[in-house]
Amino acid sequence: MQFVSKNAQIDKLSTPCIILPVFSKGSQASVTEMFDQAHNKQIANALKLGDATGKAGDALLLLMPAGSKTKRVLLVGAGEQGKTTAEDFIKAVSAAVNVLKKLPVKAVCSALLAIEVTDKDDHWKVRQLVLKSREAFYQYTETLTTAAPDANILEKYQILAESDLSTKEIDQAAAIATSIANGIDSAKKLSNLPGNICTPSYLADTAKALGKQHKSLKVTVLDEAKMEKLGMGSLLSVSRGSRQPAKLICMEHNGAAKSQKPIVIVGKGLTFDAGGISIKPSSGMDEMKYDMCGGASVFGVMQMCAELNLPVNVVGVVPSSENLPDGDANKPGDIVTSMAGLTIEILNTDAEGRLILCDALTYCAKFKPDVVIDIATLTGACVVALGKHATGLLGNNDELANELLGAGIKAGDKAWQLPLWDEYRPQLKSNFADLANIGGPTGGTITAACFLSRFTEDYKWAHLDIAGTAWKSGAEKGATGRPVHMLSQFILDRC
Ligand code: BES
Ligand code: MN
Ligand code: ZN
Repeated sequence: MQFVSKNAQIDKLSTPCIILPVFSKGSQASVTEMFDQAHNKQIANALKLGDATGKAGDALLLLMPAGSKTKRVLLVGAGEQGKTTAEDFIKAVSAAVNVLKKLPVKAVCSALLAIEVTDKDDHWKVRQLVLKSREAFYQYTETLTTAAPDANILEKYQILAESDLSTKEIDQAAAIATSIANGIDSAKKLSNLPGNICTPSYLADTAKALGKQHKSLKVTVLDEAKMEKLGMGSLLSVSRGSRQPAKLICMEHNGAAKSQKPIVIVGKGLTFDAGGISIKPSSGMDEMKYDMCGGASVFGVMQMCAELNLPVNVVGVVPSSENLPDGDANKPGDIVTSMAGLTIEILNTDAEGRLILCDALTYCAKFKPDVVIDIATLTGACVVALGKHATGLLGNNDELANELLGAGIKAGDKAWQLPLWDEYRPQLKSNFADLANIGGPTGGTITAACFLSRFTEDYKWAHLDIAGTAWKSGAEKGATGRPVHMLSQFILDRC
């Protein structure tokens, strides 16, 4: 689906379908009025009859008489004129696209930029038009043969220049949004793939393929022998229990001068987490294929940076492994030595994310980062604390944390900060090693971050716990692609 600007007189428009806003109260948008003047006041009539309500998210499809240049009119409610909220606008956009999904139209023209949205600018509206439409059209197809995917025939989504944005500005905003959507889709695709297909080697091959596609990307993959040489005893201890070799995947987007310090993003790429010897209960264990969603979001963001050729340096690092029970797996009580030199007592083999991340975070120093952000489905405790709406955010630098919180609000992909105070540190005390890999039953998200903080002292760092936000369970089971949008916004704000 291609999103392009359109400059046309509304009464002379030739299109299979025009999307027009209607308000529940107040005067109608002039674009709607003008169209209606030229078409026998059908819309006014639909409003009078009560078929069109203007309620945010309501949609009504009208057919135009045979011979009309505009074949269909899709009226979508946007709430009260002048009081449309961001949520209302998103509802309107989604309602429109949900009707379109069922129609045999190849092209559509949307006048939804005519809606004024409280506290949001026109760029935001274009972004939402693209992202919510792409979200509605996303389909997982990779491992389906019997259930044929729905035919997506909508090819062209025209955005009518009905705001202060020029057509050129609309096209620029749409191009950015499209690349973010591509990043989200790639993250979802990788995340939704099962553990027997999406292995650490599969992720490594995916990175190499991405590197071949984009000139700005330099991809390197460290195998176990290389990690051994670097002393990554913590990361390697997790993959010892698996037949799949671990990989440390690095993707460097060089978009700015070499002298510019990079933003480094590190994503947990645990392609299946059975818990190891501290094995998880079997119910719902399939969802632990999603334990690589942090890594998948790094792939998505790197793709976005490369597609847009953003003038910024970004490095994506994905430590990838499985966590399985095995005769050679980590055992509770085992002590391993991390690349940083700190010894770690593994009291629970299911707290493996921090074990692979700590070595990856130590490795990151080599990129002389401006900031390091890690993204991980790290703790069930984060789902308890924040549910599925907010990503957990912790870190050692409030400026960076605030930047991420702001990007999350702008993107509608929000995070909430938890404290990372020294008071929590004693919970990781071990009698036999420099630190333990778990911090007891309380404050699990914080103690996990506290563990990571011991390996990030040399740079500005933030940690995103996406255990609650990276995928949905139940009938809607599937990856969300979060927090690709938040991170994309963070990077775009720095360009
Ligand atoms: N991948 C899990 C975290 C997780 C659990 C994410 C449930 C999403 C839903 C992680 O590796 C893990 O198992 N964490 C343990 C840590 C505990 C042993 C301290 C957890 O949260 O139970
Ligand atoms: Mn685990
Ligand atoms: Zn895990």
